[in-house]
Amino acid sequence: MADATYNLNGGFKPTIKRLADLDGPDFYPTPAWATHALMESEKFAGEIWEPACGDGAMSNVLAEASNPVVSSDLYDRGFGEVGHDFLTTERRHDNIITNPPYNAAEGFVASGLRCAGHKFALLLRLAFLEGANRANTIFHKAPPSRVWVFSERITFYMKGAQVAGSGTTAYAWFVWNKDHAGPTELAWIKPGFKAKYSGITTRKRRVSDLLL
Ligand SMILES: C[S@@+](CC[C@H](N)C(=O)[O-])C[C@H]1O[C@@H](n2cnc3c(N)ncnc32)[C@H](O)[C@@H]1O
Repeated sequence: MADATYNLNGGFKPTIKRLADLDGPDFYPTPAWATHALMESEKFAGEIWEPACGDGAMSNVLAEASNPVVSSDLYDRGFGEVGHDFLTTERRHDNIITNPPYNAAEGFVASGLRCAGHKFALLLRLAFLEGANRANTIFHKAPPSRVWVFSERITFYMKGAQVAGSGTTAYAWFVWNKDHAGPTELAWIKPGFKAKYSGITTRKRRVSDLLL
């Protein structure tokens, strides 16, 4: 399926905003280090479903852990099962991990609660914690078991965009655990994953890459 959001005025400015994410299918592959950060922080037992897999950027890292990985996407990104809508699915897997489209994050939470047998983890803006509507529909009813706050910035680029600049948005891994009862735990991902998995040395990193 054609992605009408790729050429917005011919100019994508990754340091400013994910321009295409407001009403498009929102295809922003996740940098590998951000997925490694989750897998080295949170334990997952059993198979993992990546239900919005894009070109497999996240699935490929998940597959490096010992868990079997199933991948699907609503759109054809050349990877995984195509045409599967996570918002309406009734499929179930032990664990679900993805970076959802920005404009459907709440729907992905609802599907994760319905379809994960054990845990599901969504990479979301830290600001997802805010908002009266989400407080009523998500956080008071089914709060995450743990929120892993990134201490380094993640920069998202549309597929094929030139990699330059650094991120301005704070992200976190939101993890729901069906076996967890009790308050949400707030935890911080240790700095260093970006350098370890993207070949960037500490000296080369910009000050703006760190959340100060
Ligand atoms: C931000 S991209 C992330 C891709 C991949 N998860 C990653 O982290 O590299 C969001 C993906 O969600 C897919 N998508 C959008 N709506 C969807 C839906 N309703 N069901 C399944 N996938 C969807 C898009 O095609 C896109 O590949």
